[in-house]
Amino acid sequence: MFIVMISSELAPVAKVGGLGDVVFGLSRELEIRGNSVEIILPKYDCMWYDEIWGLHKIWDELWVPWYGGAVPCSIWFGFVHGRKCFFIEPHSSDNFYNRGCFYGNHDDPLRFAFFSKAAMEFLLKSGKQPDIIHCHDWQTGLVPVLLFEIYQQQGMHRPRACYTIHNFKHQGITGDAVLWATGLNRPDYYMHPDRLRDNTHPNAINLMKGGIVYANHITTVSPHHAWEAQHTDQGHGLGHTLGIHHPKFSGVLNGVDYDVWNPETDRFIPSHYNAWNVEAKYPNKDALRDRLWLSKEFKPLVAYVGRLDAQKGVHLIQHAMFYALEKGAQFVLLGAAGDSGINNHFWHLKHQLNNNPNCHLEIGFNEQLAHLIYAGADIMVVPSLFEPCGLAQMIAMRYGAVPLVRAVGGLVDTVFDRDHSDKPVELRNGYVFHDSDFPAIESALNRAIGLWYSFPKDFRRLVTNGMAADYSWAQSGHHYVGIYEHIRAR
Ligand code: ADP
Ligand code: GLC
Repeated sequence: MFIVMISSELAPVAKVGGLGDVVFGLSRELEIRGNSVEIILPKYDCMWYDEIWGLHKIWDELWVPWYGGAVPCSIWFGFVHGRKCFFIEPHSSDNFYNRGCFYGNHDDPLRFAFFSKAAMEFLLKSGKQPDIIHCHDWQTGLVPVLLFEIYQQQGMHRPRACYTIHNFKHQGITGDAVLWATGLNRPDYYMHPDRLRDNTHPNAINLMKGGIVYANHITTVSPHHAWEAQHTDQGHGLGHTLGIHHPKFSGVLNGVDYDVWNPETDRFIPSHYNAWNVEAKYPNKDALRDRLWLSKEFKPLVAYVGRLDAQKGVHLIQHAMFYALEKGAQFVLLGAAGDSGINNHFWHLKHQLNNNPNCHLEIGFNEQLAHLIYAGADIMVVPSLFEPCGLAQMIAMRYGAVPLVRAVGGLVDTVFDRDHSDKPVELRNGYVFHDSDFPAIESALNRAIGLWYSFPKDFRRLVTNGMAADYSWAQSGHHYVGIYEHIRAR
């Protein structure tokens, strides 16, 4: 099959969170299975250009219809660690992708509506007829709408659309300008509850809802979250729409790219290891301590790596830090915040703990350091309020760090409590707590830190159970191929 991914992120060149990892990992797995995959991305000024091989311009003036006129775009081609990528660079005073950041601008809905339009226009004008167009999150929710309302009539008969929702919290709720801009026009038609009208704001367009209504198949990134999105408030207002479209909705657990995340070959860690050689993990713990000026005492190292966003349970992350320190552990945090209040708060904490030899907060995005933390940590906390899948806990297991997670979304599908799970002992791989208050996470941390100190052999067993689990893309890739086969035009 010929599959085109349309995405606002791709690891490592344009990565804010797991979306980038997933688009890269799934694309690679699909290629290993013999499919041809191409990826379309915006040409952001802030991409990690060193990681793009052979970048060159292949098209000078692709005219993309926009409002009443058209915007000339250059199309660039390059390989990102073997993946074939096309980058769209518009030339207009809007400077959509030259903002020094991926997201966070007041005109984000228009920036990504333009991206969706330009990607479709590129496919049309270049004569590409993929079997599947796979788009992701609110940024590309308009792609299935454009495909079936405009581009199919212009000759794109072959493609079918698969739409994956990684995060229901961000839906692209916006005014009807996107309709006029992208040539969909007809607000009366689209502002209908069966189409793009937002379920809560009757005068607003919801880009994610558009993707749900028009795609041939919709997935979210874990089976448990597929249930939550339909049956709890975690659908953030889209539960009803998912209910209507439930025959074409499913949850497919993300994988982790074991080529990128492999402690046996990782280029960012000094000591390589695997499940049969766990001893060799510990020089990484020392390297991490050296790098962050932490003392080298006989203590477990607890860590958090992830976005500092309300989704991630920031009050619990902070509490885990102080509680772990109180219980004789060290704590390392790596995170970046989009929200200035959260950002200031963590900078304040960082200053407060600056001289503590058992604690380090690194605020910002740092791919290399993330690898070293997974390799150096004994315990990784993921106390999310909601978590569609979560990659951090799966990467942690791969690196022999025991995950300690809240029982939501994909965390429920991947982490099984050492003491309370009904799984066989050899499949228990971490600690799970339920409530979002302090006693819940305290009790889980107590159990984890207690085991590390008092029963090291049992703790080691949890480490190796996690390392033995298979959260690679193999199974999920197979699942996606099945979905594509099911919806492709015959
Ligand atoms: P989300 O997509 O909600 O951010 P995931 O757990 O699915 O959460 O994926 C997060 C990914 O981003 C992981 O690969 C994690 O290591 C990485 N990551 C998050 N924050 C940072 C950071 N500040 N520096 C480096 N990597 C980060
Ligand atoms: C989202 C979710 C996260 C998921 C990731 C990749 O950002 O927050 O849970 O793992 O996308 O699908």
